[in-house]
Amino acid sequence: MNNFEFKNPTKIIFGKNKIADLSKEIPANSKILMLYGGGSIKTNGIYDQVKKALKSFDLIEFGGIPANPEYSILMDALEVIKSQEITFLLAVGGGSVIDGTKFLAAAALYDGETPWDILTSGKPILKGMPFGTVLTLPATGSEMNSGFVLTRKETKEKLASGGPALYPLFSILDPQVVSSIPQKQIANGLADVYTHVMEQYMTYPNDALLQDRFAESILQTLVEVAPVILKDPSDYHAASNFMWCCTMALNGLIGQGVPQDWAVHMMGHELTALFGIDHARTLAIIAPSHYRYNLDTKKIKLAQYAERIWGFTKGTIEEKANAGIDKTEEFFHSLGIKTKLSEYTADYKGTAGIISKRFTDRGWLGLGESGKVTPADVEKIVEMSY
Ligand code: NZQ
Ligand code: ZN
Repeated sequence: MNNFEFKNPTKIIFGKNKIADLSKEIPANSKILMLYGGGSIKTNGIYDQVKKALKSFDLIEFGGIPANPEYSILMDALEVIKSQEITFLLAVGGGSVIDGTKFLAAAALYDGETPWDILTSGKPILKGMPFGTVLTLPATGSEMNSGFVLTRKETKEKLASGGPALYPLFSILDPQVVSSIPQKQIANGLADVYTHVMEQYMTYPNDALLQDRFAESILQTLVEVAPVILKDPSDYHAASNFMWCCTMALNGLIGQGVPQDWAVHMMGHELTALFGIDHARTLAIIAPSHYRYNLDTKKIKLAQYAERIWGFTKGTIEEKANAGIDKTEEFFHSLGIKTKLSEYTADYKGTAGIISKRFTDRGWLGLGESGKVTPADVEKIVEMSY
């Protein structure tokens, strides 16, 4: 196991009707900007619950943050923060609203030239306005981590950043919110969280027995609850387990002391930037090809995964590893998610070359747990995903 330091300061408030406790968590005399997305919170009752809980606060609102939070829209929110002298941000939404809020927390205290530099400088964010979240969509884990991903339509870019100043002060997780989520978004959440675990687990053995079993326990739980939650999103038992899996998958815990990959996400982000494909679906497109292409370096963990998650106890390491990849792809299909790029766009030819060139231009020359996945490998993996 590798050495590590682990600190996660976010307070989680989990359970039925917990949004009502919101006012206890926000510093008194805060001037709050409440941020939300395209309006789902107005039809599912979450907006009313938040407003009721915060009626004693000075609060203004900024709605309209789209899925894959867009830089230019967030720049309008930044104007509001500055002109209204906001002191606390409250994200009410899924990963997009929370990520957009993290960017704003950083941008509000940024003294460099243009806030987009926050995304390109590669520097960790050490200063940020305090913020909390009310999670409406389990998926990304953004509610308990310090990373965020932003999209810029103008340049067709999607880039990530983050740093220790961007952990939410608190996140309220009421699994009852799941009941209003459309099936497509629930499927996305399941595929995203599954891949988050895989990115931190599907590498090579590193003598981290407990981290492996943390990861496997999340995968097993997801496989168990996925059909239940897809059938009935108001099933509280399934919704609460699904929600907690999403948070635990990407709050840092399972990734301590182990090698991590994240190449699937880096390639996937490009598919969102180029074609607007939902984040989770880009992962389902790339992951099977990534594992097939890197079978040699990943086969021991793939075989362990096939055995422990999917019950393949017979055959060689390679046979088990391949069975594990097939099962992963089948799992995505069971969620109603297609796993080939050509099933999403007719304009897919040439994509592999574009992505590979972008990685070369950015100096991303060695991805994956060992830093050995080159832009030439990326080109082949994306091509295999056509
Ligand atoms: O905008 P509204 O109207 O709220 O509708 C949203 C949106 O259309 C809807 N929704 C959310 N909660 C709902 C609901 N509809 C009904 N009932 C509810 N309770 O769902 C749609 C998708 O929301 P979005 O926030 O975009 O989804 P998700 O949580 O999957 O977030 C995706 C974004 O997070 C980034 C992705 O790249 C993408 O930009 N990620 C962030 C990560 C992080 N910060 O750690 C890690 C991830 O790997 C990921 O990259
Ligand atoms: Zn993800």
